[in-house]
Amino acid sequence: MGRLAYDRPANKGFLTMTARMDDQSVAQRVLDHIANGTTDVGHDVWREPVTNYRSEARLAAEIEQVLRRSPTPFCPSAALPEVGSYVAREAAGTPIVAVRGTDGKVRAFRNACRHRGMQVASGSGCTRAFVCRYHGWTYNLEGALRHIPHEEGFPGFDKDSHPLVPVTAREHLGLVFVTQDESTPGHDPLGGLDRLIGPEQRVFATAEREFEVNWKIFLEGFIEGYHIKSTHPESFLPYGFDNLNVIDLFGPNSRVTYPFQRIKKLVKVPPQERRVEGLLTYVYHLFPNVLITVLSRHTNVVILEPLAIDRTRQITYTMTNDGGDDPGALAEAKRDAEFVGNTGLAEDREVVHAIQRGLASGANDAFTFGKFESAIVHFHQTLTAALGRT
Ligand code: FES
Ligand SMILES: [Fe+2]
Repeated sequence: MGRLAYDRPANKGFLTMTARMDDQSVAQRVLDHIANGTTDVGHDVWREPVTNYRSEARLAAEIEQVLRRSPTPFCPSAALPEVGSYVAREAAGTPIVAVRGTDGKVRAFRNACRHRGMQVASGSGCTRAFVCRYHGWTYNLEGALRHIPHEEGFPGFDKDSHPLVPVTAREHLGLVFVTQDESTPGHDPLGGLDRLIGPEQRVFATAEREFEVNWKIFLEGFIEGYHIKSTHPESFLPYGFDNLNVIDLFGPNSRVTYPFQRIKKLVKVPPQERRVEGLLTYVYHLFPNVLITVLSRHTNVVILEPLAIDRTRQITYTMTNDGGDDPGALAEAKRDAEFVGNTGLAEDREVVHAIQRGLASGANDAFTFGKFESAIVHFHQTLTAALGRT
């Protein structure tokens, strides 16, 4: 597997990296790249067959063998702030509901009533029990079936053996991870990561949008900086750099650092005193289908739910970076989130739609990912290995 030619000690810092490089090492590496006109490069060039974006069988394998078997971030812990808080949505094509129980622990269930399969929860909210809307069968927050209206109509039916069907849920790094199928051990999501989302971070917006794009094309657009000058000449380039990134690979995951021009001021700061907040954007890719973008004042948790070979639902949780409930910090975070979403990200969406439409052109048998696109190379290497494991 391709690895970059450096290895740094782990840092236990908050909102910092973790496996390979701490913030100070990232800052030094960025300053070196600026001084030398260089960027991080990977070892391998990867050719991904275009058919892997167009094949129904391939998508089915990705969903069944990778997305369902991987511990996948389902929502931030902060989306389940209190006892009874729940989030229901489809994950890898399966309706799932995650809920914080009376013991404070998060559990997740297949979202289907044990009577005739109606979904027992929809959207998000806070509840004391899940009452099926169809006939009123009622489950507690731990999934136990507690009440059947007119129970005499079901002689011999054992409520105890008909709880909501659990899937594995685990809170880690400020996220709720769900694993649907543990028949084949998937990857270890820890992969050297430290906490990503802190306890004071609040969710201030959630959004769901659907795009006519394969989920992998969508993902690829976020994890390389080789396109900044061409795609974002007026939005991101004036504040950032073209093709100047620090790329960490850890376990199945990666992190791409996008520095801002203003990081140059750190040259005058002693290395151990350098703080990078507001001077760069970190984009984490948590394999297989989740992105966490840490910007100056806000953090996005972006979940890519494949719906078809050419259709993806994007679920986004936008969170404050700090300040808790401070209205000033919240207003700034909202303003930044709006700016990024309306400018640079709109340009990215235009590109990925055009790529999707171009798949049918037949021009390419394969796409070539080069040494500046090493986080994408790592993704395809990891995905290929995960599909081959089964
Ligand atoms: S389907 Fe849920 S109560 Fe009938
Ligand atoms: Fe972009």
